[in-house]
Amino acid sequence: MAFQIKDLFSLLYKTTFDILFYTTVISIIFGLLPDQFFNDFPIIPMKYDNEHFYKGLYGFEWNDHLVSKAKMIAINQVHGPESLADIGDYIYTGILGGRIVRIHKQTEQIDEIVRYNNSKECQHEKLKAGNCGRFLGLREQGDNLYVLEASTGIYRVDLRKGELIHLSKHLIPENESAIINDLVFDPKHSEIVYITVSSSKWSLDRIAWSIVDHDKSGYVLALNLSTGQSHRIADGFALANGIEITADQKYLLICQTTDFSILKVDLDNVRKIFLSKQSALKADQLEIFGQRLPGEVDNIRLDKSTGDLLIGMFTVRPYSKVLRDYLAQWPFIRKSFARTAYALYLLLDYIDAKVISNAAIEQLRDDLYTGHIVYKALPQRDGAVIRLDSKTGHIKQIFGSSKFFGISEAIIDTQGDLYYGSFRNSFIGRISKNDHQS
Ligand SMILES: *[C@@H]1O[C@H](CO)[C@@H](O)[C@H](O)[C@H]1NC(C)=O
Ligand SMILES: *[C@@H]1O[C@H](CO)[C@@H](O)[C@H](O)[C@H]1NC(C)=O
Ligand SMILES: *[C@@H]1O[C@H](CO)[C@@H](O)[C@H](O)[C@H]1NC(C)=O
Repeated sequence: MAFQIKDLFSLLYKTTFDILFYTTVISIIFGLLPDQFFNDFPIIPMKYDNEHFYKGLYGFEWNDHLVSKAKMIAINQVHGPESLADIGDYIYTGILGGRIVRIHKQTEQIDEIVRYNNSKECQHEKLKAGNCGRFLGLREQGDNLYVLEASTGIYRVDLRKGELIHLSKHLIPENESAIINDLVFDPKHSEIVYITVSSSKWSLDRIAWSIVDHDKSGYVLALNLSTGQSHRIADGFALANGIEITADQKYLLICQTTDFSILKVDLDNVRKIFLSKQSALKADQLEIFGQRLPGEVDNIRLDKSTGDLLIGMFTVRPYSKVLRDYLAQWPFIRKSFARTAYALYLLLDYIDAKVISNAAIEQLRDDLYTGHIVYKALPQRDGAVIRLDSKTGHIKQIFGSSKFFGISEAIIDTQGDLYYGSFRNSFIGRISKNDHQS
């Protein structure tokens, strides 16, 4: 008997070893193949620097305020509330399935305002982007709501009729991909809006691969809504994301998610570039606002009552680097891994089409295609909201989470309460005024 168990273990050991060995060999081969074999999957990872993670939280204490001080609202009724807008008694947000909904702050009643695509295929409430649409950036301007849809651009929402009015038909060249992400109005010229495009290499459903890639194809557009004319004012961003104007109205701030930084540009300079169609500023020559931050920066919003800025953060490194951060200096490993995932996707897609169709196979196939397989390997915690000083850009306050990650935005509403949303979670969090100002 003992003899047989020993045999079994040695067989298991050998099988495990064989699987690991051959997977590694095949991955390396995929990594070494020329790029033209992967035209539909153009990943060319770059090296990047993240040594500042060793500084941890710059002396701040990690905490659980997003869980312990918050009340969760609309639980399991809003999936992936990415960006938030405060109008009257309601919080408006864009959620999965290409929908915009509003939540009454007192009664917590939820109304659907508009859907990007009313077709049958788009009724599934957890649908990702694609033809069904995905509203990423939201901004209130007076009583109006302006929204960005990830691939088609900017809309005004007629709140009474529940209609979308498309304001920019040709924002993106037809031969290019884009993830159109966030917007802010010029404080002096109400017809001018600044828009971030996160990547011109990947589309939204594959944004996770853009992160593995560390591509620097993101840019910022200025758009005149009266004429529809737009101009690229800055480019070369490693995932351009949230965009905001400082309290003194002198600077434009642009979040660079995978560089863990916020870049600062003089607004007068931006206007001059737009007016006289000068060539775009380069991200790597712009000034960093404050310091590099302890995680990926998503959206940024001004707290009008204090002049501070609030940012949503994907995953904080409270103490030091985490495992995946070490791959920053190893682009070949990232490429081999990504191409192996893509080859596996092709294989599963073939099996699903020709051999056997099954929900589990389809789920895995889609996770490999979109790169969400990467999210599955991350710890499901350490998201945060961070408060920055509007003048120095330095951290003033941290609200952490032990329960979830992927915080995308936080706002302070006119009552002074803090609301946060997350493209990964199915609720909105609220921390009342007295509980977040300590
Ligand atoms: C709406 O979705 C359907 C099904 O995916 C698609 O065929 C159609 O083109 C979409 N409409 C728009 C305007 O994208
Ligand atoms: C798209 O077309 C424009 C003008 O023809 C060209 O300059 C640009 O390089 C093209 N972009 C891509 C990604 O092919
Ligand atoms: C936007 O376009 C309108 C119409 O041509 C023009 O009057 C206005 O000056 C433009 N705004 C800016 C800031 O360039």
